[in-house]
Amino acid sequence: WPKDVGILALEVYFPAQYVDQTDLEKYNQVEAGKYTVGLGQTEMGFCSVQEDINSLCLTVVQRLMERTKLPWDSVGRLEVGTETIIDKSKAVKTVLMELFQDSGNTDIEGIDTTNACYGGTASLFNAANWMESSYWDGRYAMVVCGDIAVYPNGNARPTGGAGAVAMLLGPNAPLALEQGLRGTHMENVYDFYKPNLASEYPLVDGKLSIQCYLRALDRCYASYRQKIQKQWKQAGTDRPFTLDDFQFMIFHTPFCKMVQKSLARLMLSDFLSGSGNNQSSLYKGLEAFRGLKLEDTYTNKDLDKALLKASLDMFNKKTKASLYLSTRNGNMYTSSLYGCLASLLARHSAQDLAGTRIGAFSYGSGLAASLFSFRVSQDASPGSPLEQLVSSTSDLPKRLDSRRRMSPEEFTEVMNQREHFYHKVNFSPPGDVDSLFPGTWYLERVDELHRRKYARRS
Ligand code: CAA
Repeated sequence: WPKDVGILALEVYFPAQYVDQTDLEKYNQVEAGKYTVGLGQTEMGFCSVQEDINSLCLTVVQRLMERTKLPWDSVGRLEVGTETIIDKSKAVKTVLMELFQDSGNTDIEGIDTTNACYGGTASLFNAANWMESSYWDGRYAMVVCGDIAVYPNGNARPTGGAGAVAMLLGPNAPLALEQGLRGTHMENVYDFYKPNLASEYPLVDGKLSIQCYLRALDRCYASYRQKIQKQWKQAGTDRPFTLDDFQFMIFHTPFCKMVQKSLARLMLSDFLSGSGNNQSSLYKGLEAFRGLKLEDTYTNKDLDKALLKASLDMFNKKTKASLYLSTRNGNMYTSSLYGCLASLLARHSAQDLAGTRIGAFSYGSGLAASLFSFRVSQDASPGSPLEQLVSSTSDLPKRLDSRRRMSPEEFTEVMNQREHFYHKVNFSPPGDVDSLFPGTWYLERVDELHRRKYARRS
């Protein structure tokens, strides 16, 4: 099979408007700091009725193709991961074919994959598997993930967001997926789900969802660790894997504080399993917790505090930079993890990243989760694939700065409009097309048969 299959190029799209979380705290009359410190969120992007999942994905694919200047017939597989379902049968992928049709390229495998925030990762795995199979025809694969994360009025609403990421996959990639190294955990739980087909909102048991996320992380890490140690043993190295073997670690990010706690949890796994050197100063402050069983620690607040303190340096070194977009745009569900990857690239130089291993934890409620890793290429010289990939993300801060700040009242009005128009027919969405970023696709009309027509802002 081809060598070093992975990510060659990547594009991120987020809405052109946001609400400030400090403004939301005041508006919702909660204590100052609840969203900004407690959840670790500073801003939240949101979409007007003019944008839906199809338009988000059209925009991000078009942007990626325009930037890479690749011919439309060079893509042989296109996978979509999303949980923003507007049609129970017709895939977002079929709408994206609109972009490829003019080139005559209809020979493109792949459709949509859905399980909460995990669909993007399942799509990535599908695309990589295709490239490593007898069905690969030598062309690129593209993985698109995107979502509109909205909640009803209440404590989950500030953990919303919206966005999409498109990734171009091929061999000899600067971010290569490490072969044979996926630790997966799946089980049947009702922590977050969307049974109400008449509404865009999920049903969510917030506290349960946090425990499920952490349990899945524990299990995936144990399984990943076992697999990599086996690989090492076969290659003649017999030592435990620890968090230090990931130079960077990125996570699905429902809210940023959750990620800081998750990194701390990996440190706890090393500590309790004995794979980390327990005498190391790294674990200072954790002595009192030695001997605990990992599965008994989910609600231990004292341990939480000690862990956050002990892992702070590691968090700053390995993970903090990856939260740049999530802090300012919120949860993007399937695209959240890949937005973190883009942020990591945007906030580090190619030299910093060259030769490192990036661990990635993907979580989708319900639940499906995997921990896997990328190996970053060694060559960070100017013009190298890695340097090009890194520099393609450097405009992220400028693009975020150029968004419009909306008041909580305006945000609430847009949420009400989204509720009103959800699954309506025969309408043209209200709103000002000029408020979208240039080049954005938007929903122009839904006809009486629910058929959607899109146009592109100049
Ligand atoms: N200053 C600083 N911190 C404050 C504060 C203040 N004034 N007021 C509260 N806080 C802290 C709290 O102490 C708490 O921190 P700890 O957990 O560390 O103690 C934090 O802010 C949140 O406060 P609450 O626990 O009171 O928050 P809540 O009950 O109002 O809601 C939530 C939080 C459960 C995450 C809710 O927003 C929610 O349900 N969100 C959606 C579900 C979700 O994101 N789940 C995550 C895992 S599931 C997943 O990952 C899939 C997905 O994408 C949805």
